[in-house]
Amino acid sequence: MKIGIGNDHAAIDMKNEIKAYLEGKGHEVVDYGTNTRASFDYPISGYKVGKAVAGGEVECGICICGTGVGISLAANKVHGIRAACVSEPFSARLTKMHNNANIICFGARVVGIEVAKMIVDEWLNAEYEGGRHQRRIDMISEIEQTQHLKAAE
Ligand code: RB5
Repeated sequence: MKIGIGNDHAAIDMKNEIKAYLEGKGHEVVDYGTNTRASFDYPISGYKVGKAVAGGEVECGICICGTGVGISLAANKVHGIRAACVSEPFSARLTKMHNNANIICFGARVVGIEVAKMIVDEWLNAEYEGGRHQRRIDMISEIEQTQHLKAAE
């Protein structure tokens, strides 16, 4: 797969380890993050990964900052992005199966590298189930597109 990855200054080492891990499995990884230790604003990377995924430049994305939260919030502002911030593998699997998350996010200050690899594996290997879950994803898209949700009237 062609996978985009982004990070801030808090997640350089983890980004590089995850990148090498994925490349070792044969994936192509496009790096939209920073590699300098200077303080770096995570919305820049979250935005770049979000645009790359939404525009089809890459098939999916991984975003890592200190907590994973800030960069996920930024990525989620790009239309068409469902960026899930998780800290364990079960949610990583379920967010693909039920939410069809196209970006997975986690925190370099929250999880260790082995758990991060498990998160990435579970998410990449899971399959979206569709069915009833598509109706809910369509509702999320409706909110995004119209700032309104008919089902909530
Ligand atoms: C940077 O200090 C930190 O705020 C950032 O990595 C992230 O945790 C934000 O959500």
